Amino acid sequence: MKHLLILFAVFIASCGNAEDPSLRQLHKANRTLDLSAKEIYVKHCVACHQQDAKGIKGIFPPLKDSDYFLEDPKRAIHNILFGQNEEIIVNGAIYKGLMPPVKITDEEVVKVVNYLLEKVNKVEQKITIKEVLWVRENS
Ligand code: HEC
Repeated sequence: MKHLLILFAVFIASCGNAEDPSLRQLHKANRTLDLSAKEIYVKHCVACHQQDAKGIKGIFPPLKDSDYFLEDPKRAIHNILFGQNEEIIVNGAIYKGLMPPVKITDEEVVKVVNYLLEKVNKVEQKITIKEVLWVRENS
């Protein structure tokens, strides 16, 4: 009987573990922290640059088929980390708006810029974490 009780206790304990709601919480938390590149774009860029990344002419410049972005994608690192409010010309249109710094991690900067390059613009260029660190240290 004693043995049976112990077995029962172990059984209950192991079940308990698998179902532990705090563990499930943890998994959830990790998932939301590790956003996919598209999720980063949707959360941090879409409000201005729009779902289709084509922006709003004269107000928010496009990131899809943007001659300014594709001419030097590394420049986007600086835009994202530190914001931008100088006059720029994108696809022939003048923009003198204000882009505030975007509060995301260096890894997220790499993810979102490479998402824009590879998936949105279908070009083969890429930026690296080293370039983000360089911009951070030299700005
Ligand atoms: C609050 C609005 C806003 C948000 C959010 C925002 N931007 Fe911008 N972005 C702007 C504006 C306005 C400009 C033009 C700034 C200027 O005139 O100097 C700009 C310019 C740019 C440019 C350079 C111009 C171009 O079109 O190639 C890039 C690249 C860019 N943003 C990328 C991003 C990325 C990536 C995110 C998200 C991580 C983001 N922006 C979030 C408003 C925003």
